[in-house]
Amino acid sequence: MALKTPIVNIMTKASYEAGKNLIKDFREIENLQVSKKGIGDFVTSADLKSQEIIIKILKKAYPDIEIISEEMSLNVDLKKNEKKFIVDPLDGTLNFLHGLPHFAISIALMIKKEIISGVIFDPIKDELFWAEKGLGSYLNDTRIRVSARNNLSDALVSTGIPWKGMEETHKNYLKTLELIMKNSSGIRRYGAASLDLAYVAAGRYDAFWEFNLKPWDVAAGSLLVKEAGGFVGNIKKNEDYLSTGNIYACNYNLIDEFKNKFIT
Ligand code: IPD
Ligand code: CA
Ligand code: CA
Repeated sequence: MALKTPIVNIMTKASYEAGKNLIKDFREIENLQVSKKGIGDFVTSADLKSQEIIIKILKKAYPDIEIISEEMSLNVDLKKNEKKFIVDPLDGTLNFLHGLPHFAISIALMIKKEIISGVIFDPIKDELFWAEKGLGSYLNDTRIRVSARNNLSDALVSTGIPWKGMEETHKNYLKTLELIMKNSSGIRRYGAASLDLAYVAAGRYDAFWEFNLKPWDVAAGSLLVKEAGGFVGNIKKNEDYLSTGNIYACNYNLIDEFKNKFIT
């Protein structure tokens, strides 16, 4: 059985408690309060309750570690402070709102600008993906690894498709979509970026790409992919995917073939 460090145990506890609440709210979606943050960007009372539960547990155990969480409406400064938790209390809000059972909680620990630990919990499937730097990636108690596929033509690739309100990325995105569509076995758009990355780590997908994600969408998942033996890169040269959210991930055999489709 894989042993977690105390801090990862607390991150796990926070995601389990928040997950219980999300399941409860998911069964009663018709009663949820929903507000709109922007075009195609919603926040529900379930996101807020989940965030409250997570913050309470993290703060109690580690009062000195800063927390950056999606619904806290702070100015995100990844460079400030030595240690921080980066939290997405509900990744896949649109799925949740539409009654689609595919969403997760994502919590990462960053120390000196580096992601050290990450947990991603899918409460519907009871799957906890977690990783610690140097110690590997796990699904519940089992070690996971990226796939071993060698050719993009055999690969199943996941992505996030931009929507109305993200017009500036539409053109670039369509270019990449065309290239991947014409060169892979298939593409999926499941609607929770943290799980897309966790699935690359588990070898369910061979690769993933998306533009304009936020640090809480990719922080835990990027560590999971790396610790599972995979590669995480920047779509645009000299950028940092954690701050720009322009990210791709794949197994090592696919790097050259996959990367060539993006680098601009
Ligand atoms: C969203 C999901 C989705 C991705 C969006 C994210 P949210 O997160 O991860 O898959 O395509 O870009 O914003 O808003 O549900 O936490
Ligand atoms: Ca998210
Ligand atoms: Ca969210």
